[in-house]
Amino acid sequence: MADRGYPEGVKLALGGHSYIAQLGNDPPASFEQQCALVAACLDTGIRLLDTTYYQERIALGRVLQRIGRRNEAEVTGWNFFLQPGKADELVAWTPYESHHIDIMLRELQTEWIDLLVIHAEDDPAILARELALAESWQTVGKVRQVGLGMARLEHLDQLPANHSLTHVLAPYNAFNREAGALFERARAMNLHTVAMSPFVRGWKLDEIGEDPAEVADILLRWVVAQPVVDHVIVAMRKPEWVHANLAAAARGPLTPQEASRLAGWVARAS
Ligand SMILES: NC(=O)c1ccc[n+]([C@@H]2O[C@H](COP(=O)([O-])OP(=O)(O)OC[C@H]3O[C@@H](n4cnc5c(N)ncnc54)[C@H](OP(=O)(O)O)[C@@H]3O)[C@@H](O)[C@H]2O)c1
Repeated sequence: MADRGYPEGVKLALGGHSYIAQLGNDPPASFEQQCALVAACLDTGIRLLDTTYYQERIALGRVLQRIGRRNEAEVTGWNFFLQPGKADELVAWTPYESHHIDIMLRELQTEWIDLLVIHAEDDPAILARELALAESWQTVGKVRQVGLGMARLEHLDQLPANHSLTHVLAPYNAFNREAGALFERARAMNLHTVAMSPFVRGWKLDEIGEDPAEVADILLRWVVAQPVVDHVIVAMRKPEWVHANLAAAARGPLTPQEASRLAGWVARAS
């Protein structure tokens, strides 16, 4: 597998939902807080910065411009676009078309996207067209690597020969382990695996009803310790979460006592 240049041991990536209000209970982080958050990530070796919705691209673009650290970041972009009359909404994805890349680059205020994510499509012909487009953008230097997001196992079987995919991304956490088989297969195909949503949008941190710091620690360590996982995207609005999550990840796999505590939470949820 190619060396992705991350400092050894840092599997964490920053989620794009960190910048927007729509997927959280709290008010969004201010611009100054967003700058501090991204700087804290880059300072500590978290270089992979995800953006899913177009609002997140605009936010991250502004932040990276302000702090002047675009070259240190590995930016991810997905095919979710602004739609007329829906500027404040989180709209569904749209298959990539040729004009989309320049829109994304403008929003991100950059000349290239490190990891372009194609939202999985059940129609193999649409996916093949998108992969070909992504490849053409790679040829002109606008895209470096290409991932398949919200992927399921069957999508890997439908890939065209000689595809240029390098990553698969899917929700994967202690409560939703379905992507385990996808990640096994992806690894066998020499693809990088990216687990998303360690806390299920943060809902599990409240729902479990115990000390949220301990719950976060255990849920994150479970996913980080999975051998099939290369990266874990976690949404964080506060720089203190960056340090707490890095410390958790560095503590290593769960002890038998922690594993049985987690098993109790999972059993209660099912
Ligand atoms: N879930 C999906 O289906 C999906 C799809 C596409 C992309 N993604 C990517 O995956 C990322 C993460 O997924 P997610 O949005 O489901 O969220 P998540 O990472 O499972 O949970 C995020 C929540 O956890 C809280 N948090 C983070 N660290 C914490 C800590 N140490 N202690 C206590 N609370 C902590 C954050 O709180 P604060 O708000 O206080 O910071 C935030 O509300 C997204 O941002 C996005 O980039 C996910």
